Amino acid sequence: MTNNKLFIQVLQSKQTDRIPFWYMRQAGRYLPEYMERRKVAGSFLDLCYSPDFAVEVTLQPLTRYHMDAAILFSDILVVPHALGQHLEFRQGEGPVLTPVDEEKKIDRLSMDKFHAHLAPVYETVSRLHREIPNTTALIGFAGAPWTVATYMVGGHGSPDQAATRLMAFQQEEVFQKLIDLLITATSEYLIRQIEQGAEVIQLFDTWAGNLPDDQFYKWAVLPVKKIIRNIRAKYADIPIIGFPRGAGCRYPDYIRETGVTAVSIDTTMPLDWVRDHIQPLCPVQGNLDPLLLVSGGEKMEMRVHEILTKLGDGPFIFNLGHGIVPQTPPENVARVSEIIRDYQKK
Ligand code: CP3
Repeated sequence: MTNNKLFIQVLQSKQTDRIPFWYMRQAGRYLPEYMERRKVAGSFLDLCYSPDFAVEVTLQPLTRYHMDAAILFSDILVVPHALGQHLEFRQGEGPVLTPVDEEKKIDRLSMDKFHAHLAPVYETVSRLHREIPNTTALIGFAGAPWTVATYMVGGHGSPDQAATRLMAFQQEEVFQKLIDLLITATSEYLIRQIEQGAEVIQLFDTWAGNLPDDQFYKWAVLPVKKIIRNIRAKYADIPIIGFPRGAGCRYPDYIRETGVTAVSIDTTMPLDWVRDHIQPLCPVQGNLDPLLLVSGGEKMEMRVHEILTKLGDGPFIFNLGHGIVPQTPPENVARVSEIIRDYQKK
């Protein structure tokens, strides 16, 4: 049976008349209606764990721009939180966690309350499944183990993930234990999201690009491969999009080794190279620079056209090369959405 959702058709490598689009971090602080809801909810985590608010906030960008996919409103760090790690989001500082950088701290993490803690997220997925338009696909997501581990070990975001890369060298077996726990937790978490109605899964590996080859294979490729194997043992046909940001020329190996259905490409990827070396392997999603979406104007419009011309023969999903940033003018998002919708395939 053919799926009537354009986004899913492209993930099945089918020909479509129009290019589907959505934007990473499409719900968030650049929208005044989001800021208003967050104020009412209390904090960002309260928003994530309140199905009423989370459903509403997920749908906000769709009401404005009619994307082809909705992405569950949550965060990749609810997984360590559900494993028992302390987490808070501080204004202007981002996430702050109590670092898990020694074996005894890893041993204290546990799956005991994991699903009970995440029950509101599962509820949000289930409600979204019922409420989104029947031509819109619902994306569930998680962070890939490496990226989640960088926050767990470092205790906050860092430009070079040094604490975590060092731990992977100095205490490899202990670090492997943490990654193994994340493989189990993430697999179960995503399977539950699918049970509740997520139709596509995206795995965010924001910090994969900083790993040298052998480490890239060990910490970015293998854990994702295992998660995909676990999910596919239950849901053989679920489309899974990988986002190994910064993988560069390693994208093709990542695709072949992990078994992802499609990849999200970051802003640095040359379009001609993507068309020649990645699109023959799988559907591609990407890769407008989020800062062009801030600056807008002719430069933004020209780049959108260039991406559409070079990758639009498909299989292709229009997206950004990383998430929308808070200072993005909503009217620029409207303009890009309009250009994509009007773009006629040759
Ligand atoms: O895309 C969506 O609209 C769905 C929701 C979503 C959020 N975070 C909401 C969010 C998704 C898919 C994420 C993924 C995420 N979270 C990643 C991977 C993708 C990427 O952007 O690299 C990472 C690394 C995180 C961790 C995280 N969450 C950080 C580092 C921060 C602080 C920096 C920032 O952008 O504020 C967050 C907070 C966060 N996650 C916000 C939102 C809407 C802002 C919270 C607020 O309202 O203050």
